[in-house]
Parts: sequence; C-alpha cells; structure tokens
Amino acid sequence: MNNTFLKACRGEKTDYTPVWLMRQAGRYLPEYQAVRAGVDFLTLCKTPELAATVTKQPVDILGVDAAILFSDILIPVEAMGMHLEFSDKKGPVLSDPVRNKSAVDRLTIPDTEDSMPFVLETIRILRAELTVPLIGFSGAPFTLATYMIEGGSTKNFLNTKKMMFQNPGLFHLFLDKIAATVIAYLSSQIRAGAQAVQLFDTWAGVLTPEDYREFVLPYVKKLIAELKKETVPVIYFVNDCAGLLSDVRKSNADVVGVDWRIDLRDAVKKIGKKCAVQGNLDPCALFLPKEKIEDRVKDILWKGELARGHIFNLGHGILPETPVDNAKAMVEAVHKFSER
Ligand code: CP3
Repeated sequence: MNNTFLKACRGEKTDYTPVWLMRQAGRYLPEYQAVRAGVDFLTLCKTPELAATVTKQPVDILGVDAAILFSDILIPVEAMGMHLEFSDKKGPVLSDPVRNKSAVDRLTIPDTEDSMPFVLETIRILRAELTVPLIGFSGAPFTLATYMIEGGSTKNFLNTKKMMFQNPGLFHLFLDKIAATVIAYLSSQIRAGAQAVQLFDTWAGVLTPEDYREFVLPYVKKLIAELKKETVPVIYFVNDCAGLLSDVRKSNADVVGVDWRIDLRDAVKKIGKKCAVQGNLDPCALFLPKEKIEDRVKDILWKGELARGHIFNLGHGILPETPVDNAKAMVEAVHKFSER
C-alpha cells in the first residue's frame, strides 16, 4: 500500500510529493468515455462495479498517489428530496429550486445506508482492490445550497444572495440542514472505508470575506470538528480562495486545497504551519509543451516545500479537452523532481 498521500496530509515526511488531480476520473480519458458510452452519468454513479472501474482508471493510467471516489456532489442533494438530471449541454438541473421556507422544510436529512447504498458499496469494492488511498468527498454546505437555490449552474448567484440578504434566518436554517446531511454522509463514507475526505467549496469564492465568515465558515468548522472524530484527514478545497485564506485556515482542516489564482508561497504564508496545502497548477497549463509543464511543476514543488505538507494537484478540475499524455507527464514530473 502506497501511503505517501496520507502521510503528506498529516504533515509527515515523505520520499516524494504525492499527486492526484481533481476530476481525474472523467471525460479526458478515452477509457472513461468507453464506459460512459453505455450508460448515462447518474447510472454510472449508482452502479458500484462501474463507478469502481472508472475510479481506478486514473490510478492505472496516470500513476497518481490517491484515488477519488467516482460520484457527484449532487448525489446527496437528490437523496434530500430534489429531482436531479444531468443534461449534456446545461450540466446539472434540479427542478423546483429551493426559494422559501416550505421548500427547506420539505427536504430530509437522508440516511446514507438507506438512500445512497451504492456509494458505500463502491467504497467497499475499491478498498479491496486499490493500492493507493481512497478519498471520499462531498460538496460543502454553501456550494450545495447554491445548486439547490439556483436549480443548476449560475453566473452571478443572484437567487442565492437574495435569500442570504433578504432572509438570512432561512438561509441559516437551510445551511444547517445541509451541514447535518454532509456530516452523516461523510461519516458513512469513512466508516465504509474512505481514508480521507475532501469538501468541495467550489463557489464560496463568490462571497465577500464578511459573508464567508457568517454563512460558510461556521458550518464548515462544525462539520470538520465532527469529522475529526473519525480520525481521517479532511481536505477543504475553496475555489477562488485568495481573498479568504486567513478565514479558511480557521476551518481547522488538515489540508487546505488552493486554486491557481494565488502564488502558492503567498497561500502558504496565509494558511500557516498548522495545516498542509494541496494544489495548485492551472488546469490550462496542461496544454503547454511538456518542458514548460515541467518548469511549472518545479516552481510549485519548491513553493510547496514551505508548507507543513504538500499534496500536488491542479487548482481545479482537469478539463475534458486535456491531452492524457500531458497529464501523465505532469504526474511523472512531480514524482521525479520531488524525490528526496
Ligand atoms: O474527481 C473525480 O474524478 C471524482 C468524480 C467527481 C465528479 N464530480 C464527476 C463528474 C467529483 C469529485 C465531482 C465534484 C463536483 N460535481 C463538483 C465540485 C468540483 C468542482 O469541479 O468544482 C461540482 C461543482 C459538481 C457538479 C457537476 N457535475 C457539474 C457542474 C457537472 C457538469 C459540468 C461537467 O463537468 O460536466 C457535473 C458532471 C460530472 N461530474 C461529470 C463527471 C465525470 C461529467 C459527466 C459526464 O460524464 O458527462
């Protein structure tokens, strides 16, 4: 078993810097496309043998140091009682978006064993087969709330901010319900065998620091405090985090995931020595020639040396158009240039 990733999460010394890629199981891989050709995306998420197969693909093809469960952040949202569909053009569509108190009241806090058994079964299959650690994940409460309120992807989060500003009491009630769901969901994943968990706060970066402190941080803090009882590392990824890092560090996550818009040196300074960092190559840098990819990898590696621990990753998900060979070259470069 290769435990380099888990060691780096805990800030322990490692022989080299471990690496994985957000969205590493996905459309840029022909092997993923081949599986996906036979089933729609949600069926893929809900069929444990297939979900396990695509989870393992990037481990075998790229040689990454961790696997991330194949699923989606909106799976528990469906289990809370919303109708979910994925359209090829628009991405996720949630019908009857949550806009008032009766809609919040109608949502349930689902039991994972009852309503998402396929997630736990996928984890069990993977733990029996993987030679690298398995990362479980969930959307963070604010990010999930944006999808539930907007009904899908959005540009300026107007409906979300309207509820936040016009009915902060309701927004808090809503976030509390989502946080309870996420705690139960991730605890179940950990008990089924997930060896680390990542919270995706993809949209928290659209908030002012004051609003982040009021509507995001308290729930993430509570969640992480609860999850720490399960004693696996918690990674907290905030996209567009530069203006928020001094608050993000207060979440007490073991690892803070950082997007590419900030110099990793500055990120480490703001995060401090209490937690490890994960990141932060621009996903578009994988379209550079290989020598230039290597230069950027080296630059991020030496900046990562300043942190309590460093897990190399992209600053956000890998793009579907990415050449597989370049992703492979990146992983090889991380291993080669970080060897100690
Ligand atoms: O990282 C992995 O390899 C594990 C699988 C994973 C997926 N989604 C698979 C997926 C993970 C960790 C996610 C998280 C996720 N899902 C996030 C947070 C991470 C981030 O990117 O910020 C968000 C916001 C979603 C919601 C979502 N799912 C959107 C907006 C879309 C449509 C856009 C897109 O990328 O297609 C999805 C679909 C999705 N999730 C796909 C995959 C592989 C593509 C579906 C397909 O095969 O057609």
